Amino acid sequence: MCGIIGIIGKDAVTPRLIDGLRRLEYRGYDSAGVATLVNGHIGRRRAEGKIANLEARVAAEPLAGTTGIAHTRWATHGGVSERNAHPIATDRVAIVHNGIIENFQELKEELLAQGRRFDSETDTEAVAQLLTSYLERQMTPEEAMGQAMARLKGAFALVCMFAGRHDLLIGARRNCPLAVGYGEGEMYLGSDGLALAPLTKRICYLDEDDWVVVRQDGARIFNNGQPVERPITTTALSGALIGKGNHRHFMLKEMHEHPEAVSNTLRSYLDPTTRAVTPPDLPFDWKDVPRLTITACGTAFYAALIAKYWFEQLARLPVEADIGSEFRYREAPMPAGGVCIAVSQSGETADTLAALRYAKTQGQTILSVVNVPESAMARESSVVMPTLAGPEIAVASTKALTAQLVVLATLAIAAARARGTLSREREAELVAALVEVPSRIAEVLNNDDAIAAVAHRIADARDVLYLGRGVCYPIALEGALKLKELSYIHAEGYPAGEMKHGPIALITEEVPVVVVAPTDSLADKIASNLEQVHARGGKPVLLSDAAGVARLGAKAFAALTMPAVDPFVAPILYAVPVQLLAYHAAVAKGTDVDQPRNLAKSVVVE
Ligand code: F6R
Repeated sequence: MCGIIGIIGKDAVTPRLIDGLRRLEYRGYDSAGVATLVNGHIGRRRAEGKIANLEARVAAEPLAGTTGIAHTRWATHGGVSERNAHPIATDRVAIVHNGIIENFQELKEELLAQGRRFDSETDTEAVAQLLTSYLERQMTPEEAMGQAMARLKGAFALVCMFAGRHDLLIGARRNCPLAVGYGEGEMYLGSDGLALAPLTKRICYLDEDDWVVVRQDGARIFNNGQPVERPITTTALSGALIGKGNHRHFMLKEMHEHPEAVSNTLRSYLDPTTRAVTPPDLPFDWKDVPRLTITACGTAFYAALIAKYWFEQLARLPVEADIGSEFRYREAPMPAGGVCIAVSQSGETADTLAALRYAKTQGQTILSVVNVPESAMARESSVVMPTLAGPEIAVASTKALTAQLVVLATLAIAAARARGTLSREREAELVAALVEVPSRIAEVLNNDDAIAAVAHRIADARDVLYLGRGVCYPIALEGALKLKELSYIHAEGYPAGEMKHGPIALITEEVPVVVVAPTDSLADKIASNLEQVHARGGKPVLLSDAAGVARLGAKAFAALTMPAVDPFVAPILYAVPVQLLAYHAAVAKGTDVDQPRNLAKSVVVE
């Protein structure tokens, strides 16, 4: 989504605003812009494309000023152009906005009828014009903002700067995150703590519908017309700009951090010496839970789907895994005493957050598995189970997935123990298998050259199919999603048994079919599916352990040998080669791996 930042500073703010944007660029990179107050007037520089273009623009035409706001955009309303780049401004106010103003059309018509002229196609301009109309009626900026809050519908984090008011920024949030940073004689506003970390460690996260009046020496927060207090926390986020190390891309670096993400997370949820899981205290007894719902989007949804298999098989607990954007509107009945788990790297994804809120209205106890402990989902859950994957900068989620999986695996074991469906011996075996995962992933990473070689052989394909069965079916989905989003090759993930019901018609000698086939109880079944592909002249790409490769390798167009593991942990391990395959295919095609076209991380709009 869009990234926003604002500073009331003691000295020139433009370089620091642009530095902040660099830390927010993962949220969107269609255009970027900065505005400051120069002698009381709003000065603006904007550029289409990445922040580097804005930097060039500012180098050519410097922008002075000690109060300013800046934005990096993921376009929603209005095409990608300099005209639609934020800050959106009138002569009275400049605004940066993350989210969508849902009633902008209605507001725009009303404002046009008053004779106001719009310069952009953005929904944001309705807010700028609305505030301007209030200011022209002699309202103070604070009064104007209070009025505007009552008129705006939708999702927004806003930072507004007012002509002639060096001492003032006003921020507001509804369904999108906004943080206030407290400095020494300076104040900051930003989309997240990461953007503000180089400026200050003292951060206050605004609550739903809060708006904040920020001056050089502090902030006053309001909600529903009343002043409110929100805690100021000390963030542990590092102020250093996260680098790629020796890696060519953030995504490659982050995939090389899978072992560390998994072992750091595991340490919080199991005890390797007793070979037992150590779940957090929960406000319910698993024995009494009639149904578990797990909701998430994208890659995090595949973690939810895998967890469904684990909870059902180990704990004999009925589970519904549902995509946030569907679940939020489905009006699903939920049983009393039920539990809902939201899974999300960012903890801010709008659809997952809305699904969580719906589950809350249905009396479910909410657990969240998030990588950002200060996120909205964490704040709105009864129990937070953090993943310790560290920040993800590449837009495609990688190490967060394996970290989510180990949290959910340990929770499924804990549920099974509590429900009496898992013996102590089997728990010890499963824990031992989990403890081994980081080393097995390291082996996969060491085999990266072989994975890259296979990726080069599929990089010219127009379509790729991914097949998996059982708990590895979601890994087929993950492989296909990653290939699509990174390399722009069309790909579909299917449960292997479903192939004969339609997708088999796609198989020709042109179509690689990646078969995720660890040796498990379904190995014979997926072997038949691979044979079916082979018999039709397709190009099976086999991912299996040595036993599987020995059995099926001769029928495969390419085979990658994976370490042999307990089938329980296979999906955690097999997530890694499908991500690497997609990465290398994308590199071979020369796409922008860390920032694929049209995408953004942290999707806070619908
Ligand atoms: C795919 C990807 C996305 C995210 C999805 C959910 O590579 O990164 O599909 O997984 O947008 O994001 P979070 O986990 O932040 O809720």
